[in-house]
Amino acid sequence: MQVLVLNGANLDQLSRRDPKIYGGLSLNELESQIYAWAHALDLNARCRQTNHEGEYIDWIHDAYDDVDAVIVNPGAWSHYSYAIRDALELLEVPIVEVHLSDIEHREAWRRQSVVSELAAHRVLGRGPDGYREALEFLAGEERR
Ligand code: DQA
Repeated sequence: MQVLVLNGANLDQLSRRDPKIYGGLSLNELESQIYAWAHALDLNARCRQTNHEGEYIDWIHDAYDDVDAVIVNPGAWSHYSYAIRDALELLEVPIVEVHLSDIEHREAWRRQSVVSELAAHRVLGRGPDGYREALEFLAGEERR
């Protein structure tokens, strides 16, 4: 199973963001963990990150033909980007939404996610392990 992991705005700055909220890992370290977890689950993962919304959308478009599942953490775009939502809506493969922090128990403006309805599964507030849970969910779906 080919899984695309798309991290959005500011996630490249992970190691500089509040470690109490985001865990203190760098994006590189996070992606290395994701690759190791995917390998252990017999999944083929590809991780990408961008700070450019249009690029994020292009990658979602490309995913239409190329992948069997998508894990998205669009960062702050999650809360307002209908353009990313519209792009995700085109996909026919399972989408898992991951947030390192528990967006439902932070500031009011973070509580809404405009992509949540499209997600087959959501993982909130589990830190880096949330990506492992997302991969496990997809591996479970593949076995069904
Ligand atoms: C985030 C939560 C968002 O509110 C925030 O803007 C991020 C990261 C998370 O993973 O917890 O950039 O998506």
